Amino acid sequence: MRYKITVIGAGNVGASCACLIAEKELADVVLLDVLDGLPQGKALDMAQALPHAGRDLRLQGSTAWEDTENSDLIIVTAGIARKPGMSRDDLLKINAEIVRNTVQKAALASPGAILIVVSNPLDAMCHVAFKASSFPPSRVLGMAGVLDTARMRLFIAQALNVSVESVHALVLGGHGDTMVPLPRLTNIAGIPLPELLDSRQIEAISHRTAQGGAEIVSLLKSGSAYYGPAASVVEMAESILKDKKKVLPCAAWLSGQYGYSSLFLGVPVKLGRDGIEQIYELALTADEQAALDKSALAVGKLVDDLTKLGY
Ligand code: 2OP
Repeated sequence: MRYKITVIGAGNVGASCACLIAEKELADVVLLDVLDGLPQGKALDMAQALPHAGRDLRLQGSTAWEDTENSDLIIVTAGIARKPGMSRDDLLKINAEIVRNTVQKAALASPGAILIVVSNPLDAMCHVAFKASSFPPSRVLGMAGVLDTARMRLFIAQALNVSVESVHALVLGGHGDTMVPLPRLTNIAGIPLPELLDSRQIEAISHRTAQGGAEIVSLLKSGSAYYGPAASVVEMAESILKDKKKVLPCAAWLSGQYGYSSLFLGVPVKLGRDGIEQIYELALTADEQAALDKSALAVGKLVDDLTKLGY
């Protein structure tokens, strides 16, 4: 069984996703962009690297939606990236238009696909994609928590000089400054994090995690992170296509969980061949719930702004 993934947007995130999918031989890839030549050139270049890796798959660059027909998975990276000093929310209006247009076309071409949104501001763009696709909530999700959690795991592994593989962390909430790292539920091979780091160190790691994207934007000066985001999407894609049923924090449409309805927010979900197969509701402390409330409020405000703009 060969799967087909369409990656919308041949910029740094989209191209890195295509490359990782190819490396894993996960699916045939259509890399789509509006800029004629860019997706074709990048896909051809990537395809010419396949013999080194001994991978056989079809990598096609295109500007034509018909080439994306009957994709199993659609990864939406289209949109502009923020510049230093900008928040993800500053991209709301321009990216909403891009995401709506592209998702409408992608959904028409692949009505049975699962959509993973990467464009920012992430949770609000999931909302736009959900409305534009008319897909069920189980088939629309956003990449955020997987990346935020990976950043937190890395910072903890560095602080303790242990393998990242031994660090299990969790970050909930919106993919913005109000995201909610949960040190209480973070452990190193079962050892609770607070037994290994003091509260000041944990606070610094949580803060750096929440600012993880901005730290890279300020270093790059033009554009935002892409290796980390691409690796995160591909982990999600792999869990879906291989029906691995990994439990990962993703932006999901909530209908009552954690006290929220009709809102995309980062929560732990089971990812399998049907997309989001289960949403896990954790018992949070009062402080954790308050932090999640603040994050949900921030996402809700963006969705209100979108509604006023007609999305
Ligand atoms: C990040 O956090 C681009 O939102 C992405 O780096």
